[in-house]
Amino acid sequence: MPDRVIDLRSDTVTKPSPAMRQAIATAEVGDDVLGDDPTVAALETRVADLLGKEAAVYAPSGTMTNQTAIRAHTQHGEEIVMDPDSHVYFYECAAPAALSGCSSRFVQDSHRGIFTADQVKAVLRPRNIHAPRQSLIVIENTHNRGGGSIWPVENLAAIRQLADENNMRRHMDGARLMNACVASGRKPTDYTQYFDSISICLSKGLGAPVGSVVAGSAEFIAKVRFFRKQFGGGMRQAGLLAAAGIYALDHNIDRLAEDHANARILAQGLAKLPGITLNPADVETNIVIFEIAPHLGTGATFAARLKEAGVWMMANAPQKVRAVTHLDVSRDQIEDALVRIQKIIGGTTPGVLA
Ligand SMILES: Cc1ncc(COP(=O)(O)O)c(C=O)c1O
Repeated sequence: MPDRVIDLRSDTVTKPSPAMRQAIATAEVGDDVLGDDPTVAALETRVADLLGKEAAVYAPSGTMTNQTAIRAHTQHGEEIVMDPDSHVYFYECAAPAALSGCSSRFVQDSHRGIFTADQVKAVLRPRNIHAPRQSLIVIENTHNRGGGSIWPVENLAAIRQLADENNMRRHMDGARLMNACVASGRKPTDYTQYFDSISICLSKGLGAPVGSVVAGSAEFIAKVRFFRKQFGGGMRQAGLLAAAGIYALDHNIDRLAEDHANARILAQGLAKLPGITLNPADVETNIVIFEIAPHLGTGATFAARLKEAGVWMMANAPQKVRAVTHLDVSRDQIEDALVRIQKIIGGTTPGVLA
């Protein structure tokens, strides 16, 4: 195993920097379940302002901000419209069914997780005695399994209008909304204006160790706060963690551009290797998903071979592997990773390293 691991499994693997640890160490704290923690309150106000909403609530994870929001938007027996590859469905342990008692109805044939108002319309049910009430649309921006794809605002505007006509609410899983903003040059509110609630994660590209925040109207956030407690997410002196979140918002948003540049370099290098298929133009932010030819193995076995060479990535589908760039990976490491991957493929495909 080479001594220097290049960990591209996820942008969640970042470790707090010395300066972030200093912010954690000096944070003012109180009992946040009793509403006493000034640092949590400051973070919540900061995120509400950033996203153009009245209020926000801090929670331990993106799963919890998504699922408390879903619980607050819906009643048991209702249905949620979303992409089948959305994190809320694919990676959150059937929580919409388990915690909110809701079924999921999938938009068909999205393009890398992005869909249109017409595609939503196609899965809307008639209002009759047979159909569940469809009360919520969930959209993910950027879209993780879509390879970090960014939503066009025109689609969001059209979906909002359709949702209004059908008395449906809208939640954005904006775990990586800041990546979308930095890559597109748009303000957060250019996206958030179309949503009743938005969840953002501080512990992904922004580099905090823990934490997500969900924003919306004051009335809605009061409900989310209740469900956060019910789901076991009430935390006491959470200002220690919230201080890391404030530090992340102060220092780590603009630098996401470096992660996007590194992802592009990685994608361009990978695309040149035989047996690897991806379109570098699809890489809009910090996620690179590529397909491997069967002679290289499966996604899982190829990832295992990469791991032996000290390059950590994750299988994303039977023949797909995902790499995510982040603030603990430098450009030099990306170039080093490409050399190591080329060696592995060279060993598999005679002549590549001639
Ligand atoms: C798009 C998206 N939403 C939500 C989450 C959930 O975040 P957490 O792992 O903090 O629950 C993730 C995590 O990777 C994600 O990628």
